[in-house]
Amino acid sequence: APSLLPELAALIRDVADFPQPGVTFRDVTPLLANARGFVRCIDALAEPWLEQGVQAVCGIEARGFIFGAALAQKLGAGFVPLRKPGKLPPPVLSIDYQLEYGRDRLEARSDALKPGERVLLVDDVLATGGTLAAARALVDGFNATTVGACVVIELSALQGRLRWSGGEPLHALLRY
Ligand code: PRP
Ligand code: HPA
Repeated sequence: APSLLPELAALIRDVADFPQPGVTFRDVTPLLANARGFVRCIDALAEPWLEQGVQAVCGIEARGFIFGAALAQKLGAGFVPLRKPGKLPPPVLSIDYQLEYGRDRLEARSDALKPGERVLLVDDVLATGGTLAAARALVDGFNATTVGACVVIELSALQGRLRWSGGEPLHALLRY
């Protein structure tokens, strides 16, 4: 796998034919389990944003919570979970979005972000880009300011980056 960070790439496990035949799943759990690797990963994720005045890190359920929470602490920002439907108590703000098959929804507490608050979006994997685009639209619904987004892994062949409209930076540590 071509990679910007070979030490981190070595900690991603490739699983053939999961969750469906023909798909190669990139499993981040060996990276999380490696103390040095996890620290290096969070340091590398944080680096472009250290001077960007990020006030809130929004992590996307479920694996975006793991990276997002650690990143928020590193950046001295708060953490806001963007959750799958029905998990947060009301009142919530929500956004529906299209999946490859069917639909899904992300929700945030209706007072989770203030107008103008500087937000960084975080997830583990950018695939088709639908999830990250929806997360961004949800943040827009608060009139908060999206500073940018970061992911650990970008699956380049799926061209999810094309759905990241607006021009703010979208950083990926590893590309496949
Ligand atoms: C995965 C991944 C991203 C999303 C990327 O989450 O963690 O959130 O898919 O796909 P996309 O770019 O095509 O939208 P998943 O739905 O597997 O949820 P999980 O983290 O709760 O397992
Ligand atoms: N790994 C983890 N999450 C994912 C993947 C993957 O390869 N593709 C879409 N979501």
